[in-house]
Amino acid sequence: MSLQTFNIAALAGDGIGPEVMSEAIKVLRAVEGRFPVRFNITEAPVGWAGIDAAGKALPESTLALCKKSDAILFGSVGLPNRDPGVPKDERPERAALMRLRREFELFANLRPVVLWKELAHACPLVKERHGNGIDILVVRELTGGLYFGKPKTTENLGNSQSRAIDTMVYTTSEIERIAHVAFRAAEGRGKSGGRPRPKVTSIDKANVLENGVLWREVVAKTGEQYPNVDLDHMLVDNAAMQLMLKPSQFDVLLCENLFGDIISDEAAALAGSLGLVPSASLGHEKGGRIFGLFEPAGGTAPDIASKDLANPIAQILSAALMLQYSFKLGDACNAIVAAVGKAIASGNRTGDILDPANLAAKKVGTQMMGDEIAAALRNGH
Ligand code: IPM
Ligand code: MG
Repeated sequence: MSLQTFNIAALAGDGIGPEVMSEAIKVLRAVEGRFPVRFNITEAPVGWAGIDAAGKALPESTLALCKKSDAILFGSVGLPNRDPGVPKDERPERAALMRLRREFELFANLRPVVLWKELAHACPLVKERHGNGIDILVVRELTGGLYFGKPKTTENLGNSQSRAIDTMVYTTSEIERIAHVAFRAAEGRGKSGGRPRPKVTSIDKANVLENGVLWREVVAKTGEQYPNVDLDHMLVDNAAMQLMLKPSQFDVLLCENLFGDIISDEAAALAGSLGLVPSASLGHEKGGRIFGLFEPAGGTAPDIASKDLANPIAQILSAALMLQYSFKLGDACNAIVAAVGKAIASGNRTGDILDPANLAAKKVGTQMMGDEIAAALRNGH
């Protein structure tokens, strides 16, 4: 059987980025042992590591590498204590992450939030509220809305007064394309969570915002093309509350950029730890391939960096999403998810998901967790 080869730009970034990236690469190497694939993985600096290496959060050579790769596996960027002194436009969040999203038009951000049954103790909600399980996909619009709308500026009004302006702006086609992603994802998930039919809950603020009215209209119209998917609309403030009260009512949550940023962190807390939640940021499909950037939903966690304490699972599952979406290697993706499941089921726990009451659980570091997952993969679990 011939080998399929894929080129990966691995941008580890700052804080815990490098150590969790190493574990994801370890797992990708184990995938090569089980499937007829080869990964050409090239590492390059980004974030503060980019500034230190080449004076820019996204060095030209790193961007050039991304352009010739099939996908970007991203760690995390940003170290708030280094921010003072660097103009805000040059800081990693804007100059590297937002820049990459825009450069590659990665308009669709998918964040699957799953509470593993062995980790139910790590969920902040009482058991009675878990319902029949928490399995939510947040679909966030990623290149429009308040984050990118113009004007975006701070004016000096004199008299020690300033005026800051951000602009929320969406066009019909921007809403349509992300709505299609959400409806297709819902179809693909099928009957998740024991629900008879897949469901999209579209989040907006249609009672106040012009953007919300247009969002609701366009999503409803797009939804007519998906008769097998139920569609609900929910105001964002209510959605934030419903997530805490009855998360099992949700299947796919469709959100504009700002709401998706906030709601996805809130949802991630339900999974027990940000260290468990991966994400895929996808562009348009070209010739059957989708270019994407795959990164953990959590950040750089500078307080635990370089101590072998970070949970590498979000980074490893981000690599799995890369195999699924950009490389169409569904079986290899499933094998990684199963190996993570095996490592968890065997009692391996990083500090963030440790249950002191479970005496069978074993506290492991970042590297050991990666080793256990890679081993489970090699053993065919
Ligand atoms: C995220 C992050 C980013 C965002 C930051 C780091 C710019 O919070 O990916 O959710 O706001 O999009
Ligand atoms: Mg965020």
